[in-house]
Amino acid sequence: KQIPEVEALLKKMTIDEKIGQLNLLTPGGGVATGSVVSENVEAKIKAGNVGGLFGVASPSKMKIAQDIAVKQTRLQIPLLFGSDIIHGYKTTFPIPLGLSSSWDMDLIKSTAQIAAKEATADGINWNFSPMVDIARDPRWGRIAEGAGEDAYLGSAIARAMVTGYQGDNLTDANTMLACVKHFALYGAIEGGRDYNSVDMSRVKMFNQYLPPYKAAIDAGAASVMTSFNDVDGVPATGNKWLLTDLLRDRWGFEGFVVSDYTSLNEMIAHGLGDLQAVSALALKAGLDMDMVGEGFLSTLKKSLSEGKVTEADITNACRRVLEAKHKLGLFDNPYRYIDNSRPAKDILTKENRDVARQAATHSFVLLKNENNVLPLKKATKIALVGPLADSRNNMLGTWAPTGDVKNAITILEGFKNVAPDATITYAKGSNILNDAEMAKKINVFGPRVEISKESSEALLNEALAAAKKSDVVVAVVGEATEMSGEAASRTDITIPDTQKKLIKALVETGKPVVLVLMSGRPLAIPEEFNLPVSILQVWHPGVEAGNAVADVVFGNYNPSGKLTATWPRSVGQIPVYHSMKNTGRPAPASEEFQKFKSNYLDEKNSPLFPFGYGLSYTSFEYADLKINKDKISQGEAVEVSVTLKNTGNFDGEEVVQLYLHDVVRSITPPNRELKGFKKVFLKKNESKEVTITLQPEDLKFYNSDLEFVAEPGTFEVFVGGDSNASLKKEFILE
Ligand code: IFM
Repeated sequence: KQIPEVEALLKKMTIDEKIGQLNLLTPGGGVATGSVVSENVEAKIKAGNVGGLFGVASPSKMKIAQDIAVKQTRLQIPLLFGSDIIHGYKTTFPIPLGLSSSWDMDLIKSTAQIAAKEATADGINWNFSPMVDIARDPRWGRIAEGAGEDAYLGSAIARAMVTGYQGDNLTDANTMLACVKHFALYGAIEGGRDYNSVDMSRVKMFNQYLPPYKAAIDAGAASVMTSFNDVDGVPATGNKWLLTDLLRDRWGFEGFVVSDYTSLNEMIAHGLGDLQAVSALALKAGLDMDMVGEGFLSTLKKSLSEGKVTEADITNACRRVLEAKHKLGLFDNPYRYIDNSRPAKDILTKENRDVARQAATHSFVLLKNENNVLPLKKATKIALVGPLADSRNNMLGTWAPTGDVKNAITILEGFKNVAPDATITYAKGSNILNDAEMAKKINVFGPRVEISKESSEALLNEALAAAKKSDVVVAVVGEATEMSGEAASRTDITIPDTQKKLIKALVETGKPVVLVLMSGRPLAIPEEFNLPVSILQVWHPGVEAGNAVADVVFGNYNPSGKLTATWPRSVGQIPVYHSMKNTGRPAPASEEFQKFKSNYLDEKNSPLFPFGYGLSYTSFEYADLKINKDKISQGEAVEVSVTLKNTGNFDGEEVVQLYLHDVVRSITPPNRELKGFKKVFLKKNESKEVTITLQPEDLKFYNSDLEFVAEPGTFEVFVGGDSNASLKKEFILE
């Protein structure tokens, strides 16, 4: 499948020019997530030492760089321009964990399409997204960037995002290369501490962690980024089993592989040798492009002369980078993405903001609705309190470096827009947290945690006064933006103390209290759950935050989000996720402690909120579960149907979820695994038969020999509105 134009170019290239294409630099001005920023970038481009740039602050700077590459280098090879467009470019959508809670693949795809349209209008043609790392540890700050804990859902989202970014034709100037990251298993780092080690059995990785990467690759993702962690004791960036045996030989990946920010150099700290040694190792393992660290640039020629790498190794990597440029049509027109007329018409348009608002409303998860307080009437007296109620700096969420906080709508503004007849009294009530040292660590990209000069007592009193003169209190609380994200791991995932105090004091006023909870991760909130409060989880909602929150609070939109990562009762339960195994000594269903069973002395096994959980303003009833066959043969599909009725007082959407239990098999099965879902809209009193088809591959798993097989036997099917679904039927695979 070689591309003649690329092959002809390769023939003309010197070894230095080939090595130059493997070098990815960042000139600074964007977000630097490592201690190194590239120097003398223009001179390096001119010398033919650069294959691409990322994090370039503006299209005019990209134009200058592209001019140098195509006008001042011998072979005039254009540059790639990369960026982290994780949840929208200037139109910032909810954080990915929030977006995933919509369970709406069309909506997720359209956010990716808009991100591509906006980013390419500003010159970017390569996106470091989607992040598809399965994460089951909410201590890890980067859980915010992915689709949660489940491989089936994660795979569907990976496909939606890749096809959203890349479209059908990468030469279309509204599309860009996707980069699947972080390959692999980054979400399984020990203790949730960022950049830590991973150690995992092959059957676990194949069954539970690798499917979303594979789904993204099967969907045509053009590039892959390695992860910072090691896998089987070898850092992913230099792991031949991962980058060649699995990715290329087993999965047939034909794109190019880039390291993460200096992850090549970090192999030295991992203990794999000096820069020359790790660079040779990584190239031979299958790494094609080196992000920021210049290990390839500075050592590969020497390694070639010493016989540690071959010219073919270098040529193969270079070929893959050039093929990506060819796919984008950059050889035909290096300025395809640099078009001055586009930014004004494509970026942050009203239509794009409308999708951001819709995406946000669909991402919210109603965790509790005490006395059906929600939705609120619009003409009400409301105390809108809390440190996140009027905090423009915290609406976009982590990893939104191309977004501008100035464009974000605060919750206070949204309430005024959506409910102009409400009487709103605003009070901050408390700081996000009171620890100045901690605030300094969080405020790396801007003032997310601002500690007021006013005393905590004064802040609290103001909020209580507001509460007393209102009919209802809405408290916007939780985490600041950079309390999650990269290098933002926490060992304590509760709401910070100062806000807890505020919440308790508000409840003591006797007024109905609604918590609008923001966070980039599942939090442990049993205390708040046990208070008489309603809780709407809104993640970090993006540029339309305030309008979207108001839409849901005032009932313009009935919440339909469902959790995509389990919410534990406490850190001590981690990991806790829906596809856990039975063990040989399962705890009793009653959750009464039993000695010599798999349970805790001091905590239940069940989480506070299971995977798939989320309430609505209406109620849904599931009945009449049917399977079209009692017995099937290998290769046959099964149709599962259920009658869903909207039994409440509002129109609404429900995510119908199907879980499977493979009762007996050659490796221990999870008690239930998500294997299908459908988001359905029902008017009040309406019923619908919902059918989900289980495809033959949905019955398969990777066995001890890593063969993808379905083994004969009984399968139990559970259908319902969350992973505790109780309607059950079974069928037999012969
Ligand atoms: O894409 C990111 C990655 O997710 C974390 N390290 C830096 C990269 C480039 O910004």
